[in-house]
Order: sequence, then C-alpha cells, then structure tokens
Amino acid sequence: MASVSNVDLAQQADRHLWGHFSSLGRSVDGMPIIERGEGCYVWDNHGKRFLDGLAGLYTTQVGYGRVELARAAGAQAEELGFFPIWTYAHPKAVELAARLAELAPGDLNRVFFTSGGSEAVESAWKLARQYFKMKGEPLRTKVISRYLAYHGTTMGALSITGISGLKAPFEPLIAGAIKVPNTNSYRLPAGALDESYFAEEIEQAILREGAETIAAVFLEPVQNAGGCFTPPDGYFTRVREICDRYGVLLVSDEVICAYGRLGHWFGSERLGYQPDIITSAKGITSGYAPLGAMLVSDRIAEPFADTDEPFLHGYTFAGHPVSCAVALANLDLFVADDLLGNVLRNEDAFRASLDDLSDLPIVGDIRGMGYFYGIELVKDRDTKETFTPEEANHLLRGFLSSRLGELGLLCRADGRGEPVIQLAPPLIAGADEFEIINSVLRQVLTEAMAEMEKR
Ligand SMILES: Cc1ncc(COP(=O)(O)O)c(C=O)c1O
Repeated sequence: MASVSNVDLAQQADRHLWGHFSSLGRSVDGMPIIERGEGCYVWDNHGKRFLDGLAGLYTTQVGYGRVELARAAGAQAEELGFFPIWTYAHPKAVELAARLAELAPGDLNRVFFTSGGSEAVESAWKLARQYFKMKGEPLRTKVISRYLAYHGTTMGALSITGISGLKAPFEPLIAGAIKVPNTNSYRLPAGALDESYFAEEIEQAILREGAETIAAVFLEPVQNAGGCFTPPDGYFTRVREICDRYGVLLVSDEVICAYGRLGHWFGSERLGYQPDIITSAKGITSGYAPLGAMLVSDRIAEPFADTDEPFLHGYTFAGHPVSCAVALANLDLFVADDLLGNVLRNEDAFRASLDDLSDLPIVGDIRGMGYFYGIELVKDRDTKETFTPEEANHLLRGFLSSRLGELGLLCRADGRGEPVIQLAPPLIAGADEFEIINSVLRQVLTEAMAEMEKR
C-alpha cells in the first residue's frame, strides 16, 4: 500500500509536473517516481528496485550515489555558487576546458560550454554560420544530417533532427537543414548496391545543394534514434574526405557517444575520425549537474582569435561553476575506476548476453558497440517484415514498456523508426547486470511474441 505522502506526490505530479515528452493525460498512479539510486540501480517511491539499463538517459556513466560528486558540488557551491562566463572566467571552467582539450582528439583545443546537448548542437550551427561569414563565405549556412537522427529540441537542433513526427507541431522550422540516409545496414535502401552508398549520399546532397551553401555535416558516431546504427567500415574516412573536398565542417554530435559510452573518451576517437567540432553533454557530469560542451578545433577558432569580434552567443548557466566542479570530479572517477577499460573489457560479454536472445523469432537485428546497443524487433525474421504502426504501438507502449518496468528493468522501447529496445547501462555495469538484462528480456520478449500472436 502506498503511504499517504506517496499518494500526495502522485497527485501533485499528475496535477503540476509537466513531464517532458510525456502525455498530460496519465492516471494518478501512472507516473513512476524515482526517489534514489545506488550503483546501477534506482528505487521508486514505493521501494521497488530497477536496474537502470539506460543510465538515466544515456547519462549516469559512473552510476548513482557517488559521494565524490555530491561533495564536489557542495564544496563548489560554498566557494562560488554561481558566476557567468560572459566576459569573466572562473577557475573550474578554466580547469575543465583545459582538461577536455587535453582529452579531445587532434586540435580541438577550444571549449564552449552550454547547459546541455541541444544548446551544444544549436551553438555548433551558429558557430559554423558566423565562422563562414568571417571567412568571406556568407552563403554557407545550410547543414546536412541523417534521417531519424535526434539532435535536440531547440529550433536549430530540431531542424537538424531527422524525426519528422517530432518536428511537425513546430513547423516551419529553420530552412536549410538537409537530410541524407542514416547507416541502417540491416535495411539497405532500394537502389543501394552496398554500404558505400551511405557516405556517397552525403556528397550527392552537397553537390545538389551547391557546395558553396553548405556549412556543416552533423553526424553521431553511432546513431541513437532508429536503434544504434553503427557506421560501416570506411564510412567516416570517406565522410571526412568529402567534407575536406568541399570545405564543409564535420560536426560529431557525441551527446551520447562521448565520455566512455563507446569505451573511449570520444566516439570519434573510437571510430578513428577527426571532427572539426564535437558536441557533448550528458556523461560529462554523469548527470549530477547539467552541462554541455562544444569542442572546437583551432582552425575554426582562428578567425575569432584574429579579431576583436566575439562569437555572439551564450547562455547564463553555461559553464556553471558547480557543474564544472562536478564534471572534473566525474572525470577523476573515470580514471580511478578505469571506466573506459571496464567498457572495453566487458563489451563483448554484454554483446554476447544480447546475442543469446537471437534464437527468439521476434529478434531481427542486434547492433551497437561499447555499452550502447539496440535490438530491432520484427514480425518475421526471414523476410525482415516489420510491425504495422498500430501493432508497433501496442507492442512498445501497450506491452513492452510496462512489462519491462514490472520486471524491474528500465530501458527504452522505442518506435521512432522500426521498433527497437535500447540498452545503455552505467559504465560500471558488469556480469550481474548483463545477466539481469538477458533474463528479463528473454521473458518479456517471449511474452511479447505470445501477445502479438493474439492480435
Ligand atoms: C545525439 C544527441 N544530440 C543532442 C541531444 C539533445 O541533448 P539535450 O537533451 O541535453 O538537450 C541528444 C539527447 O538525447 C542526443 O542524443
């Protein structure tokens, strides 16, 4: 039985809290209220334990309950609770910028802080536009990104996002955000002979639009939305060549893929390409305080360094001292706990625990790397036939989401492309967590097949 205060909390949540991407029409007991966390696990306000198979939202790299981060936040709040980085600096922002420049690949030596991922993406588009105006190429304003990719919700980032359903209520969006195919190798588009098609489509888009109008290409190392689309061999090498040939900036959106998610500090490092700009957020603080960071190459910063003209852009809370102190302590924990090593040592075991499910006929494809996997669910594995929109809605929202929760596993059952289950646990996860993920998924997917048979 829920205590009185829990009932109050549920009613107040229902009446006053506007959950993000959440329907306001939920029943009083429908909104899960997560109260505390420890390691890879969180507990709701009724004391039920869940394995957090999505690290919050691809964020809680070091796990929950890390007192080191709480202490770093408290100490910083006592010393300097806030100061902006508009024409001032403070020690923790300086220290963190230097630390990130040290970790980042190549000459990404300038760090522009934001409050989160959408702002980092928004900042990258604006920076690319101002950069080209200063370089005497004012027509370079457009950007290229991939179908189904999620890059955030502010108007610029939403325009770059390739999920039409998320954009429709807000149209018209910013003009000049061109879309190209994502690297869904499981479903090569008609007319594509092989995977080289994916990179060539970027070149074709540049030529179609006119290279002199294109500022940047925005790509995630592994594309989240659609279910962890990994790039085929040689993809990023070819994309880098194309960007260089046409003078286009390559922005690596690593809001998910940086800070250990793929077993390296940065996803581009793991995949062996050099971006001009990296956008990042989430794992930079493991979510203990909000922060984003855009890492910029010396080459892109150079015209700004050569004049008095500033990048005319900023956010009050970007580079917040408490968030920067937490980020520094978080990066210390990465080293102390060897989290990158933990991911690289365990990713095969994690993958094997998912591959073990491939005897279930509903499992079509399992893809991803590091601690970041998607399982695509299909109606018929031999033909790769997918579910109708109504079936997918029932499978994901009518069945899987609630059943996974009942069995104590938080992960994402997502239908922005074909139906997928996504897993991205805290980077401290190991054999015990893989076993829970495997056994819950086996049970739930077996039940899901029976459920879909009934329809
Ligand atoms: C690749 C990518 N870019 C940008 C964003 C937006 O980040 P935020 O929600 O912090 O604004 C996200 C969020 O999940 C993301 O996955």
